[in-house]
Amino acid sequence: MAKERIPIASDHAGYELKQHLAEALTKLGYEVEDIGTHSPASTDYADYAHPLAEKVERGEVGRGILLCGTGLGMSYAANRHAGVRAAVAWTPEIAALARKHNDANVLVLPARFVSEEDGVAILKSWLDTAFEGGRHEARVKKIETAPKEDA
Ligand code: RB5
Repeated sequence: MAKERIPIASDHAGYELKQHLAEALTKLGYEVEDIGTHSPASTDYADYAHPLAEKVERGEVGRGILLCGTGLGMSYAANRHAGVRAAVAWTPEIAALARKHNDANVLVLPARFVSEEDGVAILKSWLDTAFEGGRHEARVKKIETAPKEDA
């Protein structure tokens, strides 16, 4: 069976943890697509969030991983893309609920607030937890169908 390709990206604040998680993903048997940043030099999170989210939006990949200092900037940018549900998770429990209830297809890690060990635990929880569907199905659909204001 072909390996699942998972893109991963960070800004400078998430760089070290990204390197660690990319290695963990490879060991877990995934094909990692590292779309930057490629050094700890200061950079802008949106420059990495948009290209990764576009891959998910186009259906080129099923899911992706982003990291920045708080996880917030990355999630704001990624969530502007249709069909992208980027969830900031700082515990394995939140990562699991983001999958079960929200069908999160992008995991966002607050790199300045989680250890390497916790980062791997959060990653594994998100990778291995399925969407529950059922009552959550209609709720998730409503995210993309916000009522339009009358002109
Ligand atoms: C970079 O200093 C920091 O602002 C960024 O990584 C992120 O936390 C933004 O949301």
